[in-house]
Amino acid sequence: MEPALPAGARVLELGCAGGGNLIPMAWYLPGASFLGIDKALAPLAAGRALAERLALSNLELRQADIASLEPEALGEFDYILIHGVWSWVPFPAQEQLLRICGACLAPQGIAYISYNTLPGAAPRGMVRDLLRYHTRTIRDPGVRLTAVRGLLERLASVWASDDAPLAQYLSREVAELRHAHPGYLFHEYLGEVSAPILFADFMQRASQHGLGYLADADLHTMFPSTLPESAMVLVDSLEGLIEQEQHMDFLRYRHSRKTLLCRADIPLSHELDLSRLREFAVSALLTPVQRVDLTRVVAEDFAAPDGVRFSVTHPLTKAALLCLAEAYPDAVAYPELEEAALQRAAGAREWDVAGLIEELFSLYAHRAIHLVTARETVYHGLSSHPRAHALARAQAGAYLGHLATVRHTVLDVDPLAGQLVQLMDGTRNLDELVAELVVYLAHHTARAVVKGGAAELPPDGQLLAGCKHLMELFARHGLLEEPEKN
Ligand SMILES: C[S@@+](CC[C@H](N)C(=O)[O-])C[C@H]1O[C@@H](n2cnc3c(N)ncnc32)[C@H](O)[C@@H]1O
Repeated sequence: MEPALPAGARVLELGCAGGGNLIPMAWYLPGASFLGIDKALAPLAAGRALAERLALSNLELRQADIASLEPEALGEFDYILIHGVWSWVPFPAQEQLLRICGACLAPQGIAYISYNTLPGAAPRGMVRDLLRYHTRTIRDPGVRLTAVRGLLERLASVWASDDAPLAQYLSREVAELRHAHPGYLFHEYLGEVSAPILFADFMQRASQHGLGYLADADLHTMFPSTLPESAMVLVDSLEGLIEQEQHMDFLRYRHSRKTLLCRADIPLSHELDLSRLREFAVSALLTPVQRVDLTRVVAEDFAAPDGVRFSVTHPLTKAALLCLAEAYPDAVAYPELEEAALQRAAGAREWDVAGLIEELFSLYAHRAIHLVTARETVYHGLSSHPRAHALARAQAGAYLGHLATVRHTVLDVDPLAGQLVQLMDGTRNLDELVAELVVYLAHHTARAVVKGGAAELPPDGQLLAGCKHLMELFARHGLLEEPEKN
């Protein structure tokens, strides 16, 4: 396919809630246009306030019920995003979502739909049934969530000592849910509708709206080689991508999917041409877990910021990852990256760059590295009077608890870090920022003490070091602006 370049793309998100996904994209891509639709007014209003503060003229957050939308009136889009919505709306609304994708996708457009799949989502239904039944008479959502949390605490030990496989499953599920985000718990386990579907049935329904299967957004799941040997042989013996993927869902007991759809009339070969990776630019923040050996083909682990580890064997890949971590959040054009890796792994000139491309692709398929269509240089210095960019300050001011990075990842911030971002408007140096934080902390510490807490102010040196560390973190994620030159 030749999908539209992001910089000028037309994007529609259905069920966009407060625009948490669209607002950062609209801010970072001023040449693209975004339409978000949701029926819930409160999150939309909060999103509109944020968009207004940022003067985003390329974003509209519209209130409407999907069921009453006229697909033809919406226009044409290069990308349609439907996340956390499809499985959780009744059948007619699901059909309407597919109808909109079929009618509104540009000829080279791509739609993304996430949904719950069989067989993996079926056993989860047992816990869902229990939580919903136990709290069925409670109307207030907050009270209901509290009751669910109470039940999960009581269930924690119920199945723990039972060796039966089902009991073990339930025990693990409950253990995970005890720490789940309240929004997820409410949506997934207490919502009216949550209908898992077989992938093949989903594709059958999508095909009735003129849509075909492009790929899975979790690309690595498409490769039978990620399965145990016997399962791989079984899958390889099957004809057709849908048939193979459906069997992989059974073999992996997969519970959810993120499917990319295109128009059914697009001819697709589903053959990988790894050499096309050369056309992209790469960014990654993976740091080595041990000392890196750039002289031998030996497996070594690199860790993502969330702690997930990826094993890399080729010296050139290791060298490339070291270069990318230093350059982050810049996206380095592949030819430049290859050259830098060859130089870094001195004496490795004889290494085969095909190995580098293969490993980089595998990392991409696992979402460990990002690809963009052209090199990007992002300011990531730290000036004497640092200034966070407008999006970061607006998001911190909205007390969302997170900021969107230049790579569209989420950076969690506690209230103190959020306060620091708001203060970083280019008028204060490090000492002045710390002084302001001391005032902020003193105020909040006093409030905590009044409420019966025992909070204490951290020593000055600790605050200074913490503040510097945070500013470096913000810089690393491209949240600071270059000071204006006089
Ligand atoms: C779980 S939220 C997902 C929000 C967002 N896409 C995300 O991933 O964070 C589901 C959203 O779909 C919206 N929604 C559900 N049914 C809808 C309908 N019939 N019309 C418009 N929006 C709907 C809800 O209001 C809610 O904001």
